[in-house]
Amino acid sequence: MTAFPTRRLRRLRQSPALRRLVAEARLHPAQLILPVFVKEGIHTPQPIASMPGVSQHPLSAVPALVEEAVQAGLGGIMLFGVPAVRDAAGSGAVDPDGILNRAIRAAAEASAGRITVQADLCLDEFTDHGHCGVLDARGRVDNDATLEVYGRMALAQAEAGADILGLSGMMDGQVAACRTALDAAGRSDVVLLAYAAKYASAFYGPFRDAVESTLQGDRRTYQLDAANGREGVAEALADIDEGADIVMVKPAGPYLDVLAEVAAVSAVPVWVYQVSGEYAMIEHAASAGLIDRERAIGESLMGIRRAGGEAILTYWAIEVAGWLRADRGLA
Ligand code: PBG
Repeated sequence: MTAFPTRRLRRLRQSPALRRLVAEARLHPAQLILPVFVKEGIHTPQPIASMPGVSQHPLSAVPALVEEAVQAGLGGIMLFGVPAVRDAAGSGAVDPDGILNRAIRAAAEASAGRITVQADLCLDEFTDHGHCGVLDARGRVDNDATLEVYGRMALAQAEAGADILGLSGMMDGQVAACRTALDAAGRSDVVLLAYAAKYASAFYGPFRDAVESTLQGDRRTYQLDAANGREGVAEALADIDEGADIVMVKPAGPYLDVLAEVAAVSAVPVWVYQVSGEYAMIEHAASAGLIDRERAIGESLMGIRRAGGEAILTYWAIEVAGWLRADRGLA
């Protein structure tokens, strides 16, 4: 029996300098992507009550937002459109003058290649019923009829100047449908980010306020069930087979096991969406004085990096990039 511990794992934790040196995971501003909501018909930013610090922006604000993201050193911005009018077919999504396509055009012009311009490719903001696809005669989401619309939406977004299309609708075959439509139009350059393992989640609640969602019911017939991790991996592998350039796991915190499993088998980059409810939980808990806001934000992001997330969509992107530039570290 030895008088002393042979393994002293505390040794490397004794000073900030040592802890910094042995940190296994790090985060860089280029790994952060800012989601941006652009609303048709407004002239000043409208704060979103459920997401303190986040607003819907007018189209005219897009160039300044792009500039801010460039200055912060972010990897990109992800645009969402909030249209003034919605219909059953989601026609605003494929209209070159639809709010999202106009926002893409404004962002691409302002960016001039300095930052990636990404766009949400889904129908839920554009349909009057709020589902991510079009409905059949019996009111069910019609997978294959939706793929046809997604193909046209992909072309409209590529035409507007998006670098990366975020396929978030969870229809089977959506990556192949968009890839085929783009290839046929000579746009094999467009990057497809597949929201591969997207779970039917209560944590999207504040986002639905942000886009003024009209959804009645839920998305459980197309988004993944929280019980199923293996199925999340299967979704990612299927999307890679269909030609996805990047796959995503979403939400982040409750699905870090899925993230780690996808990261272990993926041959393409694996990204993560830290969603609106994850943001709101920390903001509201911090304003109630229950947790240290900045440490909680840092820890939530470090957990994602440790689990294998290579880039992160987060509503804190600009603020956190500022901390990282000041070399403040995270948690
Ligand atoms: C669908 C979409 C959603 C989110 C991003 N894209 C909502 C949903 O599936 O209901 C949620 C993002 C968030 O909660 O921050 N277009």
